[in-house]
Amino acid sequence: MIAAADFIITKAERSKLSSMSLENISFGKYFTDHMLEVEYADGEWKTVEIKPYQSFSIAPSCAALHYGQAIFEGVKAYKNQDGDAFIFRPEENFKRFNISARRMEMPEVPEEIFIEGMKQLVKLDEGWIPNKPDHALYIRPFMFGCDEMIGVKPCDTYKFMIILSPTGPYYSAPMRLYVEEKYVRAVEGGVGYAKTAGNYGSAMFPTAEAKRKGYDQVLWTDAIEHKYVQECGTMNVFFIIGNKAITPGLEEGTILAGITRDCTIQLLNELGLEVEERRLSIDEVEDAYTKGTLREVFGTGTAATISMIRELCHKDFIMRLDTDSWTIAPKIKNRMDDIKAGVAVDKYGWMLKV
Ligand code: COI
Repeated sequence: MIAAADFIITKAERSKLSSMSLENISFGKYFTDHMLEVEYADGEWKTVEIKPYQSFSIAPSCAALHYGQAIFEGVKAYKNQDGDAFIFRPEENFKRFNISARRMEMPEVPEEIFIEGMKQLVKLDEGWIPNKPDHALYIRPFMFGCDEMIGVKPCDTYKFMIILSPTGPYYSAPMRLYVEEKYVRAVEGGVGYAKTAGNYGSAMFPTAEAKRKGYDQVLWTDAIEHKYVQECGTMNVFFIIGNKAITPGLEEGTILAGITRDCTIQLLNELGLEVEERRLSIDEVEDAYTKGTLREVFGTGTAATISMIRELCHKDFIMRLDTDSWTIAPKIKNRMDDIKAGVAVDKYGWMLKV
């Protein structure tokens, strides 16, 4: 059993914080003073180290570089009005991380390392948590296979790490999505539900193609018929049609079980909206648009929070929406922001004090 008391903590001699502004920072570019690192070998997790953020060397034969045995999570820490630091629902990321680990034939990470390690690291760097709306300290836990071996097999050695990055908004304006019908993100039986590096790498070309056509992101459709919507870019997706909220279901294992998605469902229920988690065809979306019942479309994600979608392009059919008149997405976002900032009571128990 690994106990937090056994962590080796080495503090940075000097903080980089005084040379940084924590306002309007772009996502994922700056890293705090410390990181967490622990190795897995001989069938067990070794000593957890929290130490100054630094580069490390890996062999050119490191298996993860070749075969992608690599998974990650995205979590956020906030400060409330009294200046206390909280992490948003890390237990859910912990569970999902180990679901991804199992799918990729990697060892599970114990809670003591994932949660306690994260708390200790955030505590050490809590001065880096931005205190501004739409800003947060983004927490990136990740694990990769380290064997120096290019035979195709699961590794025997791994590294689990956590790094921290102060950040502003991920998407700064309502988005335009291209409904993808040629390339696919996930197929039943595949790795769509796992947060594995390859899911993001393989999305880069289709996303770049959509950008070349003038769109911000793709809206993925199912791999068999290109008919049912899945998720968009780095987010789950919600459609408000009439008085219902509809979001693709998780049972096919082709989309990520988003934690912000789960919060959104709870908050939509709070608003009195019926939420349907089910297959939703792009034809149904088009039909609702034509009839005038497609009220709002938005994405949800840890990095992106709640991001409004102002346009969808399916073949040559363009659906334009007037985001200025929307009420539901802004209400969900404000409610979530209030809980994160400690302005509203955390009645769901989402905030873990550091
Ligand atoms: C997150 O929302 O945390 C994600 O993982 C998206 C990321 C790839 C930027």
